[in-house]
Amino acid sequence: MIEFRDVRKSFGEARPVLDGLSFSVAEGETLALVGPSGCGKTTALKLVNRLLDHDSGEVRVFGRDVRGEDPIALRRRLGYVIQEAGLFPHWSVKENVEAVPRLLGWKQAERHARSEELLALVALPAAEYGERRPRQLSGGQRQRVGVARALAADPPVLLMDEPFGALDPIARRSMQKEFLDWKRRLRKAVLLVTHDLREAFRLGDRVAILDRGKARQTGTPREILAAPADDFVREFVSDELPGAPP
Ligand SMILES: Nc1ncnc2c1ncn2[C@@H]1O[C@H](COP(=O)(O)OP(=O)(O)O)[C@@H](O)[C@H]1O
Ligand SMILES: [Mg+2]
Repeated sequence: MIEFRDVRKSFGEARPVLDGLSFSVAEGETLALVGPSGCGKTTALKLVNRLLDHDSGEVRVFGRDVRGEDPIALRRRLGYVIQEAGLFPHWSVKENVEAVPRLLGWKQAERHARSEELLALVALPAAEYGERRPRQLSGGQRQRVGVARALAADPPVLLMDEPFGALDPIARRSMQKEFLDWKRRLRKAVLLVTHDLREAFRLGDRVAILDRGKARQTGTPREILAAPADDFVREFVSDELPGAPP
């Protein structure tokens, strides 16, 4: 569903942020892209929905090069969960969830039915939460609304940028469990980025470890633990997961 082939992107500095990045995400699969803050994760996601354009290499979605696609039409087929949820502060929870269906011209009754269904899915029943503003929610609740909003038009692909990053450890753990449950039910292709290897291993069917603009290793958590591709991966794993095999 998503494929990066030797992708380069620089913002004009000496060393490109992405420097030969390659990976793919299959239908129904979650790929977690993991690496430290500033390593280019958000940049990589924005190349998929054309909030940014790459300098060279190929970014393919649904089998086609994104550079040949109309950005607006492309974004309708890609759900995007933005870092820190990114809700519209003056809109109610329901209005936030219905943003994309409204753009797509859905009838009011269809929009309402969809937002009720999704708010139930993320455990924020519309009757209780639908009319609230984002500031009247906890951080975890805002992130759930961000997930509901991304799912609103039922896109086959979801891009998730540190979706559970702003949460305390307990809320985070519970959101991760819910994510695994949604994932089983919804069967979406998900490209999720995180700086947290533990989270990547919990949520990703496969994990790509980023360093200096490249994926140093891509594989299932089990494969990475059993056979780290190089010293960088070995050290990253042992720093982030103390107690894992050396
Ligand atoms: N629009 C931009 N203009 C210039 N530099 C940018 C821009 N966006 C990101 N960068 C730089 O690119 C690097 C990667 O940023 P980002 O993709 O946001 O990292 P991450 O999401 O992994 O924390 C950082 O050094 C950041 O300062
Ligand atoms: Mg980021």
